[in-house]
Amino acid sequence: MSGLTKLVAGNWKMNGFSASLGELKAMIEGAKTLSGVDLAICPPATLAAQAGWTLKDSTIALGGQDCHAEKTGAFTGDVSAEMWADIGAKYVIVGHSERRAMHGETDAVVSAKASAVLRAGLTPIICVGETLAERDADKTVEVVSSQLAGSVPEAAGKASFVVAYEPVWAIGTGRTPTTAQVAEVHAMLRQALEKRFGAHGRTIRLLYGGSVKPDNARELMSVPDVDGALVGGASLKSADFLAIARAAA
Ligand code: PGA
Repeated sequence: MSGLTKLVAGNWKMNGFSASLGELKAMIEGAKTLSGVDLAICPPATLAAQAGWTLKDSTIALGGQDCHAEKTGAFTGDVSAEMWADIGAKYVIVGHSERRAMHGETDAVVSAKASAVLRAGLTPIICVGETLAERDADKTVEVVSSQLAGSVPEAAGKASFVVAYEPVWAIGTGRTPTTAQVAEVHAMLRQALEKRFGAHGRTIRLLYGGSVKPDNARELMSVPDVDGALVGGASLKSADFLAIARAAA
């Protein structure tokens, strides 16, 4: 066990309308009775400002799902890390596999985005994870360690950041790796971070993500070096998100 306070971050992806703020309010209420766990919700950009107001003074932090590497400029449709900071966000997810796959984001792009998040004074949640073909070819450790090396910028050596291990084949599929498979990757991530950043590497929270649900959260959260969860589908319903949060507390 790393002994770090666990973080449960909900990634709403492209889900959520104004009516979903009711779920957020229920989460805030439910989270009042929880201690010993950090919580965050990353809504879509359209809800971010309203969500920020709703979450203000609550125990749930606001997070962004992505950002541009530049602070401002002619980048139609993009949002910068400084803009997330401006509305009170604490975290920004970068390098999610959906962005890597559908928007062609390379490790270098992810690293530049993570640097931008740090520049804005926020905490990046840097995602890594292998595809099913890579796992079947026994390349998991190789792929994930190379993504980690390329996606975590040098500036992270002196800053707080989070790494999320999300096997692509486990995202939204209801399939999860065995606890032994999760343990193997998380131990490798911890070792690589310690090798690169020394003692600072022991303070970095390593989240597991991919079909985390109320019924598997406790088991996943008990794996050594799993310091929380990045939750997609199950973070859309307050009851499920709170159940996962309770399993981490
Ligand atoms: P899921 O998504 O929990 O719906 O599998 C996880 C993620 O993509 O962060």
